[in-house]
Amino acid sequence: MAPMTAKASPRIVVLTGAGISRESGLATFREPGGVWDRVNLEDVATPEAFRRDPDFVHSFYNARRAQLTDGSVRPNAAHTALARLARERHGEVLVITQNIDDLHDRAGQDPLIHMHGELLRAICTACRERRAWHGELTTETPCPACGTAGTLRPDVVWFGEMPLDVERILAALHACETFVAVGTSAAVQPAASFVHEARSAGARCVEVNLEPSEATPAFHDARHGPATELVPTFVAELLGERG
Ligand code: APR
Repeated sequence: MAPMTAKASPRIVVLTGAGISRESGLATFREPGGVWDRVNLEDVATPEAFRRDPDFVHSFYNARRAQLTDGSVRPNAAHTALARLARERHGEVLVITQNIDDLHDRAGQDPLIHMHGELLRAICTACRERRAWHGELTTETPCPACGTAGTLRPDVVWFGEMPLDVERILAALHACETFVAVGTSAAVQPAASFVHEARSAGARCVEVNLEPSEATPAFHDARHGPATELVPTFVAELLGERG
């Protein structure tokens, strides 16, 4: 009988940010005209903002949820290439996304970690039940589980809150052979430090981004251009389909 082996760690770990969804029509955060150019993150993306003005916070996320579910936004070639990589290298690929959109999910990415939560889910601050939520949320919406009104919030990680699955992420970074960052400015911790965790553990680190980021010097290889061009090419290389 073959000896029991621990669940193998993924050989390839990919971190994605808002840049991978840009060509699907979703704005990034820190580019000119980006989300944080149009609204102060302190007014919509902190627990204090939600306590201070829950109606304004709900309106911000209701607008983004509506955009994601109105049929105008679909996964692009970068999302589908990463999903193909995980299918063809079954068990060897883990995608960790900072994005709260569902484009990786709709592309069939599996496994997938949403370290900043998901726009299309809600959590009740009274009973902690979380569920898929595609419609509007208001301060009147009753929790379907406990019936309390006004306790539902977007199931997303706000500034000052703990990202999700950090232990699992760090274990994967420390065991992978290749770490790839796609479409992230490396402006927000802890994701900005993932390249250092992977590099110190001996992984080959590749950045795929429209332009150099704050973390570019930490990567062995940096490829700059649109994700829908560079990611399919890189995936083909990883699958041995091109030199
Ligand atoms: N292809 C590849 N990269 C792109 C593209 C594209 N078509 N368009 C933009 N980019 C790059 C930009 O150059 C930038 O470096 O994507 C990056 C987006 O950076 P940010 O807007 O800072 O987004 P992100 O890194 O995901 O932000 C991290 O900050 O506000 C929080 O929680 C939020 O998850 C988010 C986190």
